[in-house]
Amino acid sequence: MNTRHTPPAPAARPDVCQPTGSAELAMLDVYMPMMKSAAILSAGKLGLFEALADGPLAIASLADKLQSSLRGTADLADFLVTIGYLERQGEQFANTASTQRWFTSAGRVDYTPGLRWTLEAWPMMGDLSAAVRRGGPQTTLWQAMEDRPQLGATFSAYMDAFAGDLGPDLLAHVPVAPGHRRLLDLGGSHGMHSIRFCQRHPQLDALIVDLPSALSETATTIARHDLSERIHVSPGELLVHDWHGQHDVVLYLSVAHNHTADENTLAIRQIHEALNPGGLLVIHEYLADTPGNAFMAAFRLTLLYETGTQTYRHEQYQTWLEDAGFSGIRRIDLDPLEKGSLILARKA
Ligand SMILES: C[S@@+](CC[C@H](N)C(=O)[O-])C[C@H]1O[C@@H](n2cnc3c(N)ncnc32)[C@H](O)[C@@H]1O
Repeated sequence: MNTRHTPPAPAARPDVCQPTGSAELAMLDVYMPMMKSAAILSAGKLGLFEALADGPLAIASLADKLQSSLRGTADLADFLVTIGYLERQGEQFANTASTQRWFTSAGRVDYTPGLRWTLEAWPMMGDLSAAVRRGGPQTTLWQAMEDRPQLGATFSAYMDAFAGDLGPDLLAHVPVAPGHRRLLDLGGSHGMHSIRFCQRHPQLDALIVDLPSALSETATTIARHDLSERIHVSPGELLVHDWHGQHDVVLYLSVAHNHTADENTLAIRQIHEALNPGGLLVIHEYLADTPGNAFMAAFRLTLLYETGTQTYRHEQYQTWLEDAGFSGIRRIDLDPLEKGSLILARKA
């Protein structure tokens, strides 16, 4: 007899995209995902998940805490229960374990900034058909951020949250050597990747290059971690920017999909030139090698609207890297696949 205790599998979330009855109701496939997104985003904006982070509340106390109507709070909470984001505990409402983990400051990673960003992306996606007709954006995300600086700060905060998720994978897989002293973080935005590498490897200093719109909070974040002496920020367009000499590790994390093939060819060649012998290039990307994957297909559609750029296949990276002179190219697919892949390459 098997006496080993296996923990219970987490309860599967209901798939609200599926019609619930026996009849085919085609509009549920559109209406329910819309309402699911609207409810989760509203909860994030109102601070509902955070309000329950310390424990369950009765609906009147929850409404009070959110300064919202009793009727509205009750309707929202009821729906969030049906889609697996809240649960009832007697007369009270509580976060499910997954909501607590992903959407509150008590969890491992708080993706609330991602909810705020999705609220910004929501009206953009309403205009997707125009991008499909044109074959690209009317205004790129980066141009929109110049006009509306808050957009850049909201995007960087979301990337910061994702960096909290990706950080442990990067630290585990990137072999920084004792002789590596200078790190260059291209498109480094929020700065959290540089901060984690500098905390883990005390011999490292870092330089972050990004567009001004992405860097509004970065110096403050670096100062909060007491690293202003070791991490510097340099606003600019990465392909024409002065990278201040030679480096030992270059991060090119989620940046290649924002550039055309010609721009990546040039960037990877410039990175090779800017690396010391024995230096390491670290790419994080969503590879176009899994055409049947719904997330990857959705991401390519997002890029069509936001930047007009695309994801690339692993062989494409290999060609860019080999042509630039890199060797020891290694691909690491992260788990889950939606977290993307790392590509490591060395300058001999
Ligand atoms: C998807 S975000 C990734 C941020 C960060 N590297 C990370 O992994 O969390 C892409 C970043 O590239 C920056 N970026 C895009 N085009 C750029 C360019 N031409 N020059 C400098 N930075 C650029 C954006 O501002 C943004 O911060």
